[in-house]
Amino acid sequence: MKRNAIYPGTFDPITNGHQDLVRRAAGIFDQVIVAIAGNPNKTPMFPLEKRVDLARQVLADLTNVEVVGYSGLTVEFARQHQLSVIVRGLRAVSDFEFEFQLANMSRHLDRDIETVFLTPQEQFTFISSSLIREIAVLGGETREFVHPIVAAELKKQKRS
Ligand SMILES: Nc1ncnc2c1ncn2[C@@H]1O[C@H](COP(=O)(O)OP(=O)(O)OP(=O)(O)O)[C@@H](O)[C@H]1O
Ligand SMILES: [Mg+2]
Repeated sequence: MKRNAIYPGTFDPITNGHQDLVRRAAGIFDQVIVAIAGNPNKTPMFPLEKRVDLARQVLADLTNVEVVGYSGLTVEFARQHQLSVIVRGLRAVSDFEFEFQLANMSRHLDRDIETVFLTPQEQFTFISSSLIREIAVLGGETREFVHPIVAAELKKQKRS
C-alpha cells in the first residue's frame, strides 16, 4: 500500500526550514502533498496564489512532492485526498504545546489520521516565517533563511 502524507501550513513564505522538512518527508513517504492554507484570519503577507507559486518553484526538483492551496479543515482535505498521515515540524519545545493540541484535535476529528513530527537540521531550528517577514519589512537580508526567489519577493515588502 502506498503511504502518502500531507504537510499543511501557511508557508507565508516557504523558508529553508519548511524545505528541510519537505525533503525529509519526501524521503520517507511515497508522495507528499504540501498543502498551503488560505488562512485569511492570519492576514498573510503573500496571497495564497503567490505562496503556492513560490513553494512550487522552491520544491520543483522533488518529483514526489506536489504543492496545492486549500481552505477549510485540514483533516477534511486529507480525507478527501486519501492522505492518512499529517506531517508537522517541531523546532523547539515552544512548538510542542500547540502541535500536541492540534494533533490530538485532528485525531479526535478523524481517528484514522496520524500526525508525524519531524525535526529540522540544527541550523534551521530558529527559522519561522513570521520572523522572516519581520526582517523583510524592516529592510534586513533574508537570503540566509529562504530560497533566493523568495528573498527577491521579500525585498519588495520593505516598509519605506
Ligand atoms: N524551521 C522550521 N523547522 C521545522 N519545522 C518548521 C519550521 N518552520 C515551520 N515549521 C513547521 O511547519 C509547519 C507549518 O508551519 P507554518 O506554515 O505555520 O510556518 P511558521 O514558520 O510557523 O510560520 P508562522 O511564523 O507564520 O507561524 C508547522 O508544523 C511548523 O512547526
Ligand atoms: Mg507557525
